Amino acid sequence: PATTLQDIIAHAKEYGFVFPSSEIYDGLQAVYDYGQNGVELKNNLKSVWWKAMTQLHDEVVGIDASIFMHPLTWKASGHVDSFNDPMIDNRDSKKRYRADQLLEAKAEEYANAGDEARSQALLTEMGRLLGAEDLEGVRNLIIAEGIKDPVSGNANWTEVRQFNLMFSTQVGSLADDASTIYLRPETAQGIFVNFLNVQKTGRMRVPFGIAQIGKAFRNEIVARQFTFRMREFEQMEMQYFVRPGTEMDWYNKWKASRMAFHQAIGLPAERLKFHDHEKLAHYANAAVDIEYKFPFGFREMEGIHSRTDFDLKAHQELSKKKQQYFDNDVDPATGKPYGNYIPYVVETSVGADRLFLATLCNAFTRETVGEGDTQKERTYLKLHPALAPIKAAIFPLVRKDGLPEKAEQIMKSLRSEFRVITEERDAIGKRYTRQDLIGTPFCIAVDYQTLEDDTVTIRYRDTTEQIRVPISELKARIGHEVSM
Ligand code: GAP
Repeated sequence: PATTLQDIIAHAKEYGFVFPSSEIYDGLQAVYDYGQNGVELKNNLKSVWWKAMTQLHDEVVGIDASIFMHPLTWKASGHVDSFNDPMIDNRDSKKRYRADQLLEAKAEEYANAGDEARSQALLTEMGRLLGAEDLEGVRNLIIAEGIKDPVSGNANWTEVRQFNLMFSTQVGSLADDASTIYLRPETAQGIFVNFLNVQKTGRMRVPFGIAQIGKAFRNEIVARQFTFRMREFEQMEMQYFVRPGTEMDWYNKWKASRMAFHQAIGLPAERLKFHDHEKLAHYANAAVDIEYKFPFGFREMEGIHSRTDFDLKAHQELSKKKQQYFDNDVDPATGKPYGNYIPYVVETSVGADRLFLATLCNAFTRETVGEGDTQKERTYLKLHPALAPIKAAIFPLVRKDGLPEKAEQIMKSLRSEFRVITEERDAIGKRYTRQDLIGTPFCIAVDYQTLEDDTVTIRYRDTTEQIRVPISELKARIGHEVSM
């Protein structure tokens, strides 16, 4: 059977990957906690991203900016004025919906019924009204289309209102407007405001990039699909500063590079695709998403945006601090240095949680093994060994005769290199199954022969094949597979 999101949610919970937040109080909507295996998988994803960005690009360096920023940051970035979702309420059901999503669902209905033209016309009209901020027009369109509340079944709609997605809180003890600060809705602004600090102290020359991993917060109104859309999530962003006029070259290079990354960590090409944006965000002149085919369809996992000088220019205006770079390189057209300019920015922005969810969905494998009466189902996580929470589990065949001590000794000889564990409880078959379920790529069995000749068997997760190897080879064999 095809894997459903329910299968993934259940597996994630049962095997210590993802738990609902504060579950003993019945959870908190759109907030999740990573468990003992989830945190390892997520950390591994973050570290391969960090390595791909910084270690493999000597012109990209990292920073770690704060979640809280000066409130003017969000004025300059446009988030105070335009980081909104248009919402509509139904008076009977008291449910709140995103107006654009109601219209999109209607357009999808037309398309499914074969009326592609009507579907497109509706989307175009919606785009026009939203672009013109004609909220009354959006409401009229919802009514004209006869859209009903999926819960109450009627069309008793309120006006459409814009809801800002930023969370705010107060600094200090005064609850006035001056003390309101926001939880950052993207990590990017921490990079923009540090652009000159990094450029100057790192003696960076354009083109160069700044990478960052950190939490971001959005008061998502329609929060569903597990960790796909959360109110507290983590972004992995990189802003690449380029000379104006060269941005489309870099945009295309980063597009290709990011797609190659996802395939290198094991996401198959046929489950990935580019999706060009029809409607550009307030800061972009070109934008594309890398979509992954989740159990609920192709959805955005990463955004690549050409942000022009929108952000640096806005920060320069509001802060009155020059955000310019002096380019010594000679312009062949004039024979003179390019001189001072505000760099353009190409950004790559991937949600760590969405990448995690894609990785988990892709790894989840159910196979029927054996034949006839001995046929049974095997479930395992086919994770790239570099991403697996535990790289190897070492099993003494029995709990006596010095086998546990030998297993312990092997574990200690490996654990400074990779995360390895020993397991003594239950029959060995059960121990293999437990490791399969969390994606451990190698299981090492210690038996009586080990005591005689210092060899062990390695069992490979995906094939269940077993081979006998000297203990002295373990480090090199596992090391080779778990590196990227
Ligand atoms: N700095 C650009 C920016 O923030 P975005 O498309 O709004 O662009 C980038 O977000 C990525 O962050 C998305 O592709 C997605 O992976 C992740 N993301 C955004 N909102 C999210 C949410 N509510 N929950 C989980 N991930 C989210």
